Amino acid sequence: MPLLKVVIYPSKILQKKAKPVQKMGEEIRRLIRDMVETMFQEDGVGLAAPQVSVSKRIIVYAPTARRGEETALINPEITKFSDATELGVEGCLSLPGITGEVRRAKRIEFRAMNLQGKVFRDTASEFAARVLQHEIDHLNGVLLIDRLDFNQREILLSNTQRL
Ligand code: NI
Repeated sequence: MPLLKVVIYPSKILQKKAKPVQKMGEEIRRLIRDMVETMFQEDGVGLAAPQVSVSKRIIVYAPTARRGEETALINPEITKFSDATELGVEGCLSLPGITGEVRRAKRIEFRAMNLQGKVFRDTASEFAARVLQHEIDHLNGVLLIDRLDFNQREILLSNTQRL
């Protein structure tokens, strides 16, 4: 299976709102297989289609980082965020060398379409909820660095300027 090229910030496609998938078909399934392969190859726990230059609402993720435990979501939508939040360290394949602490809901409810084209609902909590929120952010053109507080952003920027 071909590996896809992960685009790096500040590529424009990363900051664009991705379009919903209108029709499930072999082309989308092939893209998803390649995204899964690319995610594991790059040691990621999640990957969104805009990161491989496809501006469509598709994500794959595997919070356990184990092959065979990945999930693909098409047109995912978070329908409920828990009031409880927590801080956690995140990185992103499109932001090599950058990590930051991001506050996310501890638990979410979502709906999405699966590989068979069927819409389903599910919930996620803890790390899986964090990964999902990060990947769904990508579909809306939002990056980890957009979620950092002012102090963390300042530190990152000053480090970058020193390079
Ligand atoms: Ni990311």
